[in-house]
Amino acid sequence: MVLSNKRPDDMARITTKELAQKFIDEQVKEIQAQVGDRKVLLALSGGVDSSVVAALLIKAIGKNLYCVHVNHGLLRKGEPEQVVKVFRDEMNANLIYVDAVDRFLDKLAGVEEPEKKRKIIGAEFIRVFEEQARKLEGIDFLAQGTIYPDILESGPVKAHHNVGGLPDDLQFELVEPIRLLYKDEVRMVGVELGLPAGMVYRQPFPGPGLGVRCLGAITRDRLEALRESDAILREEFDKNGLANKVWQYFTIVPDFKTVGVKNDLRSYEWPVIIRAVNTIDAMTATIEEIPYDILHHITDRITHEVKGVNRVLYDLTPKPTGTIEWE
Ligand code: XMP
Repeated sequence: MVLSNKRPDDMARITTKELAQKFIDEQVKEIQAQVGDRKVLLALSGGVDSSVVAALLIKAIGKNLYCVHVNHGLLRKGEPEQVVKVFRDEMNANLIYVDAVDRFLDKLAGVEEPEKKRKIIGAEFIRVFEEQARKLEGIDFLAQGTIYPDILESGPVKAHHNVGGLPDDLQFELVEPIRLLYKDEVRMVGVELGLPAGMVYRQPFPGPGLGVRCLGAITRDRLEALRESDAILREEFDKNGLANKVWQYFTIVPDFKTVGVKNDLRSYEWPVIIRAVNTIDAMTATIEEIPYDILHHITDRITHEVKGVNRVLYDLTPKPTGTIEWE
């Protein structure tokens, strides 16, 4: 079956509950017509796009969808647990959870160069996904969370979608139910499908995840400090009404230590850097002016609650000259 990759000029923008519901009903029928009673595989990261695709497919074909969630150890605090809770426990999906943390961190040990880190993470992801795909028998389709901007920017396959490189003997027909939607429409459909708001409205998160925020060679202790400080920042942004106002916000842990004082003793620990930016298209970005009392409170929490951290910095650099990520 050949499905169109061009959004029809007269396709209404999904702006209401009713339009989202209509889209869901149509897609469920379209997926059922394309797939029949055959099996579909999906790499489910827990990001907005793959989550919406999973929810649509669960509605259309139930247990004939096989979701693979790869925990590579570079996800934010609570994310792998949320994927399991939402999809396995609440939506009763076939979810294969792969704990690949040691595998990824062993491969990354000692690697300092950002692009090398990205390549290792991408290649290892494909390898883990491929192993799972080979274990499952009788899969005919691969579902992908390709959205319309991906098609406009990079042709038919999601550019940064890590499963683009499966070997030739493991090629599947694609199922891409949200390929004609813009991001805001994907979110509306996600809400209508009953996905949690925290999943549907989450900020962008890069494919290599925390791997490019734990600067230089990744170590488990700095990665833990990064995950914990990021969780505190997100919690405080949520509490203070900043989460919906700021486009992307996160912490970074560099690979050097600074001297400080803790409990009247000299400490020699890492700093944590906070980044909070606004942008339309990620090509340029401005700095969000966070009220000082909130910054003080976040600093206090991070320096007291996160092991190995004695200092907090706020990055004031717009893009250009800085990029949004530090690596
Ligand atoms: P930069 O750092 O280039 O980031 O200003 C622009 C946007 O892209 C995201 N980003 C990535 N996303 N894989 C991704 O999927 C990557 O390797 C990657 N690097 C940066 C970044 O988070 C920001 O939203």
